[in-house]
Amino acid sequence: MAQIAQQDFGPVDVVIMAAGKGTRMKSSLPKVLHRLAGRALVSHVVDTALGIQARKVVVVTGHGAHEVETALAAAFADAPLEFARQVPQLGTGHAVQQAEALLDNDGTTVVLSGDVPLIGAQTLQALVAASAGRRLALLTIDFDDPTGYGRIVRDGDEGVQAIVEHKDATPEQRQIREVYSGVMAVPTRLLKPWLARLDNKNAQAEFYLTDIVRMATVDGVAVVAHRTDDPLQVAGVNDPLQLAQLERAYQLRQAQALMVQGVRMADPARFDLRGTLACEADVEIDVNCVFEGAVSLGAGVRIGANCVIANARIENGAVIHPFTHIDGEKAGVTVGPAALIGPFARLRPGARLGAEVHIGNFVEIKNSTLAAGAKANHLAYIGDASVGARVNYGAGSITANYDGANKHRTVIGDDVHIGSNCVLVAPVTIGAGGTVGGGSTVSKSTEPGGLTVARARQVSYPNWLRPVKKKA
Ligand code: UD1
Ligand code: CA
Repeated sequence: MAQIAQQDFGPVDVVIMAAGKGTRMKSSLPKVLHRLAGRALVSHVVDTALGIQARKVVVVTGHGAHEVETALAAAFADAPLEFARQVPQLGTGHAVQQAEALLDNDGTTVVLSGDVPLIGAQTLQALVAASAGRRLALLTIDFDDPTGYGRIVRDGDEGVQAIVEHKDATPEQRQIREVYSGVMAVPTRLLKPWLARLDNKNAQAEFYLTDIVRMATVDGVAVVAHRTDDPLQVAGVNDPLQLAQLERAYQLRQAQALMVQGVRMADPARFDLRGTLACEADVEIDVNCVFEGAVSLGAGVRIGANCVIANARIENGAVIHPFTHIDGEKAGVTVGPAALIGPFARLRPGARLGAEVHIGNFVEIKNSTLAAGAKANHLAYIGDASVGARVNYGAGSITANYDGANKHRTVIGDDVHIGSNCVLVAPVTIGAGGTVGGGSTVSKSTEPGGLTVARARQVSYPNWLRPVKKKA
């Protein structure tokens, strides 16, 4: 669709208005940097703009301009993103005026808002097609309660005559339920002279972008209203309540999309995806799980209640029991097929677990490989280690991987048994098939097959009299 739109009607340039203050958020963070599904509101909009192959995306910044520009430049390093400052903010028409110098006449300009995050690419493509290189196309929607919005004033059933802002509207006009969504597509060569003619003679003494509709009618340019029936796509965020409501609505949509693919969810209303989640067949997800970054779940994977899983690949048939925290960050985490993880386990960046590995409660794994069948079932830390197949790693045992200045590796051969409460002082190697007695502090490498006990010998005194408290 994008290609068709481009071929037929020339390049698309997008202007994102993001200079407003967002007073009702009552926050020091600029409104458009507040997060929906883990990403800044304005990042969703930039993403969608790039999704329709925009030639250029101009973000108009004002309040918190430096912060907004820095965040976007970092998030979209290689994108055709440009910024136009609007100081002070004198209205939506004034906002687009600031971007004008960056817009070439051969394109169609699509105007979006940084605080309307869920506008869809297909909707924009349809709007560009409706504009067709020669018309002003407005995205409109019917609201039961249109209070506050610009009303679409029509000439009978004919074309659109004007947009009248709520504050400027007559009582009759306020009855109109079709409102302007804030999104338009307009041929840039037509837009520019209209912008030059804007004034601020209205109830709010602002330069209204919406006044170009009247100019189009005067100039004999057709104005078309493209109605959407999806209120989420045009929903703006003005306060924390609206942000939370939009978050829930968005999350429900993501949950529904996954369920259509066959994912079974205990409760789609208690599911959060802040990134991407790829699922193979027969995945089950219990309540209150949060997925972040890029996560993929193999066939038959089960995720227990209250897990947070980020940047990880979970292989077929693995079970993640409740309250497990997995975050691969940049290095990633992999959990092998049929592994059992948790409850209350923590997998950190670089944890690579093989098939049928068992990780139990209060066990932390970081930057370590565990080969097939290795088990650490209780209260343990394994960091910067290579753990062989079928190793049994006892409760309370840790790798002392950090000497205060540098990290060192621990190597544990296949079939090793590490007793409880051991400290493996890295760098150290435990030879394959070896056994380390409980309570050992091992700082020298051991031979394969041997028993290592590194603790003080037990001394027992028979009939020992315990001290008694003196009387005062
Ligand atoms: C605007 C429309 C109204 C429409 C409504 C939909 C105008 C005059 N009115 O009204 O018809 O129904 O959106 O939500 O366009 N912004 C700037 N600089 C400014 C002013 C605004 O960047 O000087 C940004 C805001 O941060 C916001 C967007 O533009 O992201 C829309 O501004 P807002 O003040 O919310 O417009 P409305 O009065 O709601
Ligand atoms: Ca608004």
